[in-house]
Amino acid sequence: MKKAIGIFAVVLMACTLVLAGCQKKEAAKSSGAALIGIAMPETTVLRWVKDGNSLKSEAEKRGYRAELQNGNGDQVQQNQQIGNLLTQGAKLLVVGQLNDGVASAIADAARDKVAVIAYDRIIQNSADYDYYITFNNFKVGQLQGQGLVNAMNLDAATAAAPKYITYFAGSPTDGNAFFFFDGATSVLNPYIEKGVLKVVGPAPATSKDTANFQRIATEGWLPNIAKNRMENLLSGDARNVTLDAVLAPNDTLARAIIEACLADAKYARKLPVVSGQDAEAASLAMIKNGQQSMTVFKDTGKLAEAAIILADQILKGVANPTVPGAVLASSIGLESIGDTGKKVVKAYLLDPINITQDNWREPITAGFITPDEVAANGLQ
Ligand code: BGC
Repeated sequence: MKKAIGIFAVVLMACTLVLAGCQKKEAAKSSGAALIGIAMPETTVLRWVKDGNSLKSEAEKRGYRAELQNGNGDQVQQNQQIGNLLTQGAKLLVVGQLNDGVASAIADAARDKVAVIAYDRIIQNSADYDYYITFNNFKVGQLQGQGLVNAMNLDAATAAAPKYITYFAGSPTDGNAFFFFDGATSVLNPYIEKGVLKVVGPAPATSKDTANFQRIATEGWLPNIAKNRMENLLSGDARNVTLDAVLAPNDTLARAIIEACLADAKYARKLPVVSGQDAEAASLAMIKNGQQSMTVFKDTGKLAEAAIILADQILKGVANPTVPGAVLASSIGLESIGDTGKKVVKAYLLDPINITQDNWREPITAGFITPDEVAANGLQ
């Protein structure tokens, strides 16, 4: 009997909560609550689907209406979507851009006096917005570089028997790709200078070496491009050496690179150590089984929450919004993260977390990986 009453109470509470949620959403609609427009860039990399859903639910949780769009890797499409959001009367836009072609849509928003938050990726070549929220992308790169140093045991390497690495970077249309790479090489360069690490293939010391950076960049972050480039490297520049490491900028590309290596008899028994980013379930499985060396966990649920906390303050006219858990880039000497090329916007940074075989469960414990993903990827 007691048990039945207990179950009844739990069911009643759940119904009340669901009802309260619906009432809040209904109230948001009928009260003419402000509309937040959410424009995400692509779905090739899984995180953007999660980001979009989290942003929408965080906005609705705070009593806003929210409309979610995804540009599917096409800037023209994203600009049309932003145009539609403006027509629907959005009061604020959260935009994860594809390339600087987005600037004209952001100019339209400014004309309509609609505030814009650049989400995760800076909106380049625009002076028409004031806020950017992301992770400390330089630190993401540092974690990747340090992860490779540790996995290669580079501190014990000698110039007589150096280690070999090859470089991949993200899309040259994405400002983050430059910070990831520069963070990583800031850790790797001293080892190259000591002669204990050699770069196979194009070897930019920083992203400022534009010609070589373009050679290692992966347009649109597309895994097939990285896989082809890795295959070409294996039969070309890397033909006469055995690679110890590959700097891969995210998990999707890391897995494409590992796939190319696995098809090469030379690496069938021992893969090079490969970095990553995004803590995707498929890569956590490869970290667990030792095929991928590390990833960087960026809790995008937290990023979405922080973005909406920021949006809420902007919509309420707060002059200097603060975001719990985020630091201003200017306060840690990383102003350049907020440089659009036309203006320096206020950039809020969250902290990324290093994931290796020692702590691969952390993204699961944090609720970032869904139970379905855990089951589908053997992460129990
Ligand atoms: C994001 C990464 C992501 C990449 C490809 C970057 O801007 O910061 O998390 O892996 O885009 O979508």
